[in-house]
Amino acid sequence: MNYKTTLLTLIIAAFLVLPSNLRAQAKYVGTKSCSMCHKTEKQGQQFKIWQDSKHSQAYKALLTAKADEISAKKGGKKAAENPECLKCHVGDASLIASAFKEDGVQCETCHGAGSEYKAMSVMKNKAESIKKGMTEFKDVEKFCTTCHNSNSPTFKEFKFSEMLKKIAHPTPKG
Ligand code: HEC
Ligand code: HEC
Ligand code: HEC
Ligand code: HEC
Repeated sequence: MNYKTTLLTLIIAAFLVLPSNLRAQAKYVGTKSCSMCHKTEKQGQQFKIWQDSKHSQAYKALLTAKADEISAKKGGKKAAENPECLKCHVGDASLIASAFKEDGVQCETCHGAGSEYKAMSVMKNKAESIKKGMTEFKDVEKFCTTCHNSNSPTFKEFKFSEMLKKIAHPTPKG
């Protein structure tokens, strides 16, 4: 490659990675921000459904003696400080470092950091929400099994459709 082609290739490459960089800038806003809208009956009470689910307890599950015992076998740290546990019981490193850690597996663990898509004008448009960082679920089962798998020290099995029903939180139709 000569100098000019190399430069051109670099410029094109920069454009290609730009959207993912923008997405990476999205910040976590916490479940209270989502609950502002997603708590009403009309919207489907997603906040209450999540609160009543095990996912909201996933961080607290690390505060037990049993958890520390499991953690001790995996590196000796306290479970609630062990990144190996937190990545499935909370989410990625920036969510773990945020003020929202104690909410465990929360809206944004699954739906993506919400600062850029949580505005009403964006939320009403699915494509736009996805562009601004909302997760697009192409294969829900595959998504669940990023955590529900044999890397979980307490894993037995994961019956997808049964488990999906337990956490279902649809927007009511009509
Ligand atoms: C200002 C109000 C508001 C806030 C805040 C808000 N949402 Fe929404 N959200 C909506 C509305 C309105 C819809 C569209 C619902 C419909 O389809 O009728 C929606 C839709 C969604 C959808 C479904 C998208 C689709 O069509 O598949 C998801 C997922 C979602 N919101 C997650 C979140 C999360 C996570 C947060 C917090 C980070 C959040 N929302 C914050 C109002 C809001
Ligand atoms: C464990 C992961 C997970 C958590 C936690 C979670 N969601 Fe979801 N949510 C999903 C998945 C997966 C879907 C899509 C289900 C499907 O397509 O069958 C979904 C769908 C939705 C929808 C769209 C429903 C529809 O009818 O299209 C809304 C709105 C939503 N979630 C909001 C929230 C809010 C608000 C929270 C937190 C209070 C939350 N979710 C927590 C995984 C999660
Ligand atoms: C980020 C990791 C993560 C993802 C992604 C995830 N889960 Fe979970 N899930 C957990 C953890 C951790 C627990 C255990 C929480 C506890 O027991 O305190 C759990 C518990 C559950 C439970 C309760 C189990 C029981 O025996 O009652 C159900 C149901 C569930 N998840 C369904 C799902 C479904 C369906 C999906 C995909 C839409 C999903 N989860 C995605 C981490 C995750
Ligand atoms: C690959 C993801 C993953 C990792 C890594 C992980 N967990 Fe979990 N954990 C889960 C899921 C999913 C569940 C619920 C279903 C199950 O047991 O697999 C769970 C359940 C648990 C429970 C049972 C909670 C209850 O309500 O009874 C404890 C305790 C626990 N995990 C501790 C830990 C500790 C300690 C670590 C770190 C050494 C850890 N987990 C690492 C995904 C994970």
